[in-house]
Amino acid sequence: MKKTIQIAIDGPASAGKSTVAKIVANQLHYIYCDTGAMYRALTLAALEEGVAPDDEEGLLALLNKISITFQQQPDGQLVFLNERDVTSAIRQHDVTRHVSDVSAHKQVREEMVKRQQQIASDGGIVMDGRDIGTMVLPNAELKIFLVASVEERAMRRYKENQEKGIPTDYDRLKNEIELRDFQDSTRQASPLVQADDAILLDTTGLSIKEVVDRILNYAENARN
Ligand code: CDP
Ligand code: CDP
Repeated sequence: MKKTIQIAIDGPASAGKSTVAKIVANQLHYIYCDTGAMYRALTLAALEEGVAPDDEEGLLALLNKISITFQQQPDGQLVFLNERDVTSAIRQHDVTRHVSDVSAHKQVREEMVKRQQQIASDGGIVMDGRDIGTMVLPNAELKIFLVASVEERAMRRYKENQEKGIPTDYDRLKNEIELRDFQDSTRQASPLVQADDAILLDTTGLSIKEVVDRILNYAENARN
């Protein structure tokens, strides 16, 4: 019988992590967990409650008051902040602008990691984020570090926004992605780095299907 495994997918912004993680989880009938959505939900709550992104104690107190949960759907998942569906609200520009500041705090991360490990404790999981292979699931049987050129990542987000009818300036989007990558990679508390035992997968020029097929191949080997 095939083993049930944990799959950790990390990488910079817009590398395609959540898109491919969702499909891989579906194919394997595993749970999918988008940890970025959890940091985004906390950021949304902080903006709404007037807690400043640099107020570590305030953010921790807020985090301890709120629940962040997922509801699996056939075509993805819904994100709930307490009882409220915030799936779209957490993608708004203001949240994206502040999320790296909010997620830089050590105590906030410790609580998030605890919650993420709890979600993963039930068996097969595909989890994507920045510190999954290094901190959240250090024993994951398969770790992927997904990258792509910043131009391609910005263009993917740009096209996504166009499809959704969100007016976007390409250069501004690219600058914001670069800034967030810089903040995420240089922070003190569990920065974005490739785990020693992660497989580097450069998706520049690859279609979603090509990336999914490669990961499923690696997973097939890891499950034997
Ligand atoms: O989808 P996108 O690449 O825009 O980002 P995301 O995965 O939704 O993550 C949003 C932000 O949350 C990141 O830029 C990080 O600052 C933070 N994050 C983190 O610190 N650790 C994680 N495991 C996941 C996200
Ligand atoms: O989760 P992350 O921020 O890493 O990226 P994403 O939200 O999954 O992907 C960003 C955009 O790139 C989405 O619109 C995907 O459809 C697209 N994408 C792509 O065009 N080609 C790939 N190989 C992967 C993602």
